[in-house]
Amino acid sequence: MDYNLLIEKAINSKANALAPYSNFHVGAALLTEDDKIYTGCNVESSSYSLTLCAERTAIFKAVSEGERKFKAIAVAGDTDDFISPCGACRQVISDLCGNIDIVMINKNGKSKTMKASELLPLAFGNKYIK
Ligand code: THU
Repeated sequence: MDYNLLIEKAINSKANALAPYSNFHVGAALLTEDDKIYTGCNVESSSYSLTLCAERTAIFKAVSEGERKFKAIAVAGDTDDFISPCGACRQVISDLCGNIDIVMINKNGKSKTMKASELLPLAFGNKYIK
């Protein structure tokens, strides 16, 4: 599967990051089952813990528009290494997107793709909640 467009959208979404506290800009792009793309960026609050990561911004945008099935999420940072989603985002990806591809992009536009279950093995999930 070719994720070139998804990667381009994630990289471009970095420009929308509102990150005056960390100055760390992140972009994300989420691919739906029927090939629509929802983008996201990190949005920071002066009460730091209320900050929303780029991945969750994209996921909540899509879900709030009625989307329920996804194929992949790309995340881009100005990092030497491939940026890797935080633990909170891994949980939300696992819960709301399932075992999708996670495309991690570095500052040079190079990427590495892994499955959600590889990044969050033994995930908690709704199967535990009766
Ligand atoms: N951030 C993301 O948006 N996604 C990640 O995968 C890692 C961290 C944001 C949160 C915060 O605005 C900034 O990066 C520094 O942690």
